[in-house]
Amino acid sequence: MTSQAIYEYQTTFYKNPEKVFTAPCRVNIIGEHTDYNAGLALPAAISKFIHAAVGKRDDRKIYIKSLNKSLSVLVDLDNISNKPEQGWTNYPLGVFAMLQRRGHKLPFGLNIVFHSNVPIASGLSSSAALLNLTAYIASIMYDIPLSNTEIALLAHESETDFNGLQCGIMDEFAIALGKKDKCILLDCSTNEFEYKNVDFKDYALVVIVSNLKRNLTCSPYNQRVKECNDALEILKGHFNIKTLSDLSVNDLPKCEELIKDKTLFKRVRHVVSENQRVKDFVVASEQGNIEAMAKLLNASHESLRDDYEVTGEHLDYIHEISLKNGAIAERMTGAGFGGSSIALVKKDDFANFKNKIFTAYYSHFKIRPLVFLADICDGLSYENI
Ligand code: GLA
Repeated sequence: MTSQAIYEYQTTFYKNPEKVFTAPCRVNIIGEHTDYNAGLALPAAISKFIHAAVGKRDDRKIYIKSLNKSLSVLVDLDNISNKPEQGWTNYPLGVFAMLQRRGHKLPFGLNIVFHSNVPIASGLSSSAALLNLTAYIASIMYDIPLSNTEIALLAHESETDFNGLQCGIMDEFAIALGKKDKCILLDCSTNEFEYKNVDFKDYALVVIVSNLKRNLTCSPYNQRVKECNDALEILKGHFNIKTLSDLSVNDLPKCEELIKDKTLFKRVRHVVSENQRVKDFVVASEQGNIEAMAKLLNASHESLRDDYEVTGEHLDYIHEISLKNGAIAERMTGAGFGGSSIALVKKDDFANFKNKIFTAYYSHFKIRPLVFLADICDGLSYENI
């Protein structure tokens, strides 16, 4: 995989890159649409990767291309702005803009060739992987000391301020802090985190990509963020809270009385109950109670479907056929609106499960899903060439 990025770099610039950088993508085990409400999430980095072959330039321009995309750009470091014609490259470009906005001097340009096997726009955070990877590239190439948390925050700033998606920090943290075989219990009110061993016993963690393409900046994602903020404004006058995540499930009956708009109340119920599910999931996992873990994962999907309304017919169909075909748990992962889901399937039944899901989903939607085993892996890395 890295070899393809290196080869493309060599054939484009007639020399070797200096370094090759790698970022994984992520799944979220539980705690969905809680991060921008300062709540809890439990993501993990998984081994689908974006690589980047990188070398310095003699001028102050950034050249960006990808083996996966036809568009490439050459942009002056002193003149970076978000332009529609720059398409996907607005993501990596934003990181350079944000660094300069923070006062960092970037004395030379870079050539960057990306190559990815992360399914694009699939809910596995290919965009956060690209942002984190670029932030990591910049920190190493310009010798700007940034911790993994700072890399995640820089990438996040670029996504929200430069690219306009009002997302939370979960994806960037999952990728920057990824650790082999560990899930990351992330408290988005403080950005504090704890690594957790999550033992799925005889069950494999399976990823199912719906392959229904979507663009989050055009999806109702920002609308959900707004609905949560609107509900918070109503509730603030009655509870001593700063965020929806300061509420507990016991507060929900009072919230229902106060919020006249039924839709807004459902959004609150999802956020509050999902935070509780994360806590319960961690306890169930520590007790080795796989049945309780499975129940919570399924309840999370139901809440995202019925209260938060972000699943959509493709992910709901995958949920249904997975549970009918041997999965003990299945839930959408990431933002929803298409994208991906995760399932717990008996390890020795994986091949059979994969076939059944593929056949059922393809005959229903005429779209090929991608079904693979999740391998929880380390975060960002690089090697010298
Ligand atoms: C997307 C966002 C995350 C998070 C999830 C939903 O992946 O980038 O910040 O909000 O959706 O949990």
